[in-house]
Amino acid sequence: MKFFVDTADTAEIEDLATTGLLDGVTTNPSLIAKSGRDFMEVTKEISSLVDGPVSAEVVALDHETMMKEAEVLRKIADNVCIKVPLTIDGLKTCKALTSDGTMVNVTLCFSANQALLAAKAGATFVSPFVGRHDDNGFDGMELISDIRLIYDNYLFDTEILVASVRHATHVLQSAKIGADVATMPPSVIRGLFKHVLTDKGIEGFLADWAKTGQTILK
Ligand code: E4P
Repeated sequence: MKFFVDTADTAEIEDLATTGLLDGVTTNPSLIAKSGRDFMEVTKEISSLVDGPVSAEVVALDHETMMKEAEVLRKIADNVCIKVPLTIDGLKTCKALTSDGTMVNVTLCFSANQALLAAKAGATFVSPFVGRHDDNGFDGMELISDIRLIYDNYLFDTEILVASVRHATHVLQSAKIGADVATMPPSVIRGLFKHVLTDKGIEGFLADWAKTGQTILK
């Protein structure tokens, strides 16, 4: 499973990229606003920090203007992936861009039928928002399972990019279902490394090692 980080904070991205485990980045207009930085400038910087896809979202609602915005965004860097909303105009834009070889992430997906439409439109990624789905009384993970089943039934290449991830259990369940990617806030990625028994184990080993009086590096 690929790991993307869901942030426009370049310090976080740079730091997480040093793990060698970061496969891409997703941003959205809210994350850009939170960064307080110029959209073009921050997207360019992010694109230079990772080799994988960097999702940059259009803000127009009509197909024609979305295409114009996509044209500007895709010139930022080769690894920019155009993010479009799951609407009729968004999917028209998706179809046009992917037919032309541009990566597209179809965002704000909340039903398996919407995901089916995104795949038919040739999306590179579809982003079902599991956390927001859960918040509204639905089962985000059931949505991921349904999409996996449908995509496997028809051998769609569209990658399932689990979004709006809130905790490690979302990541675990996504991996068990066979989602292709999870995009996570930095805190969730960092949390995956942690286990209280790992910390306790290190503490015990180091205490015993100290008793030997030995060093590895001479
Ligand atoms: C995905 O691409 C979105 O940016 C993101 O996961 C939204 O998550 P939120 O529900 O935490 O805003």
